Amino acid sequence: VVTAWAHATEAVLALPVPAPGRRADRLHHSARARGTRADYGWGMSAPIDPTTTDAWAELTALHADFTPDLRGWFAGDPARVGKLSKPLAELHVDLSKNLVTDEILAALVRLAEQTGVAGRYEAMLRGEHINTTEDRAVLHTALRRPVGANPPLVVDDQQVDADVHEVLDRIAAFAERVRSGEFTGVTGKKITHLVNIGIGGSDLGPVMVFEALKPYATAGIEARFVSNIDPTDIAQKTGDLDPETTLFIVASKTFTTLETLTNARLAREWLWEGLAGAGAIGDDDASRTGAVAHHFIAVSTALEKVAEFGIDTDNAFGFWDWVGGRYSVDSAIGTSLAIALGPDVFREFLAGFHAVDQHVATTPLAENVPVLMGLLNVWYTNFLGAQTHAVLPYAQLLHRFPAYLQQLTMESNGKRVRWDGSDVVTDTGEVFWGEPGTNGQHAFYQLIHQGTRLIPADFIAMVNPSYPLKDGERDVHGLFLANFLAQTKALAFGKTAEEVEAEGTTGALVAARTFPGNRPTTSIFAPALTPRVLGELIALYEHITFTQGAIWGINSFDQWGVELGKKLALEIAPAIEGDAAALAAQDASTQALLAYYSDHRK
Ligand code: F6P
Repeated sequence: VVTAWAHATEAVLALPVPAPGRRADRLHHSARARGTRADYGWGMSAPIDPTTTDAWAELTALHADFTPDLRGWFAGDPARVGKLSKPLAELHVDLSKNLVTDEILAALVRLAEQTGVAGRYEAMLRGEHINTTEDRAVLHTALRRPVGANPPLVVDDQQVDADVHEVLDRIAAFAERVRSGEFTGVTGKKITHLVNIGIGGSDLGPVMVFEALKPYATAGIEARFVSNIDPTDIAQKTGDLDPETTLFIVASKTFTTLETLTNARLAREWLWEGLAGAGAIGDDDASRTGAVAHHFIAVSTALEKVAEFGIDTDNAFGFWDWVGGRYSVDSAIGTSLAIALGPDVFREFLAGFHAVDQHVATTPLAENVPVLMGLLNVWYTNFLGAQTHAVLPYAQLLHRFPAYLQQLTMESNGKRVRWDGSDVVTDTGEVFWGEPGTNGQHAFYQLIHQGTRLIPADFIAMVNPSYPLKDGERDVHGLFLANFLAQTKALAFGKTAEEVEAEGTTGALVAARTFPGNRPTTSIFAPALTPRVLGELIALYEHITFTQGAIWGINSFDQWGVELGKKLALEIAPAIEGDAAALAAQDASTQALLAYYSDHRK
């Protein structure tokens, strides 16, 4: 299996790509699973039921005798930290404070082998249509392959590398024109503000990365992000802007999303009114079209719809249906980043992703950091009953990282059927959540330390600060990091009743002041929050998500669960406007809420 995993390297490093199916087949045949092979119309074999593998049986037996004992495990095995600390590109990942023994970890690795995780990864890299319900390849890893990868990746007759780099080069050239002031607003003024209009994957990635890399925004261009259809969002984000110096980026993979297109139309009206009010343009069609050409660009897979909206397709940057929305920040969806932070920063960011892709492809499962972290999540979810997973960045600039991860993980693995349409056989995706430290410490850490629920947590910290400030003689970042280290230590080792009593506490207070410990954490440490490190972090979580989805047999690349609400909103909208037939078609609760709405509407 390690060999099969190592073969995946060939695709990532662009060595010869194997014939479709061959390696995946071999991997499936080597699995000691009782799942049968069948074709579900998309060339995919049946998912392997993880609960039928020998590894699952081993894990079940290990769980039956399981008593977490981080204190004992650390005391009994001085090599534990060394064995469980792993390099991942520039990241240092310490898994030692997780609730696993060597035996459990080895059984988890066998679970990955026996459920065909490596084969599925290879199938993804080869461009097989592993997104079965949409009959699409899944190739976000191709977005960060370096220039000149040889031989080039060709999937479904598309020259993938050539197309990816053609768009990247166009984005870089356009970004330089905006940054230098060569591309101006309609009145010849330099662009000082970008407003990215998008939602979900067309928003969360760009806003998270812009916030994280703000110290790199040195060209005097500020980016803002409008996503919510609540008109408050666009009203507040444009309220203090000058239309003459504002460039809107309409970012939508499909270019059909209600929120984004509504906000784009509102932005266009705001632009026209503002420019006309300042006497900068007339209110004739030609003036308006000219204004849009100078103040609107678009990012989409649907360039014909971009043209219909009135945006010049010379100012549009495309991507492809094999990039999922939540996997798209490294595609043209990152155009706002290339402009505000610069094309060089964007390329460094992509290089970080690629470094992790290479690690995944070339590292045996037992040392493969994203695979191990995915397996730990399976252990916590399916054996120890964890329902949620906290992500706690000790880096203020990563304050939107948990929100970004919520879409990545929960839209990917929040599934109840497998890729062949059959029901899942285990629990699937956990709830991901988090806030930056130390804010979270003063809010919800109480529950993690002493509550009744098991909450595995990832702590992410940087050795060097983005802003090296001192409080007198004291390095404030050092104090911040002491908190990161203290929290993971307290969670792991707790404080016994004897230790509490030894401090002089007596009676009922002893129990209240006791910390049970054995609360699992992973520490992810990096030298500094650079573009490369950020790319590495995102890719790490992409591959963790992939590993879990592969073990559970689900398609991590569709999101049908968001469709029903969208359709119902369109049906209810006329009822809000007073349409009697639409109102009558609603259920009793919705009708009552609509009645409250009409009673209180001013
Ligand atoms: O509704 C969910 C979703 O489809 C996400 O997967 C996607 O990132 C988001 O909407 C935005 O879609 P688009 O980029 O097509 O506007």
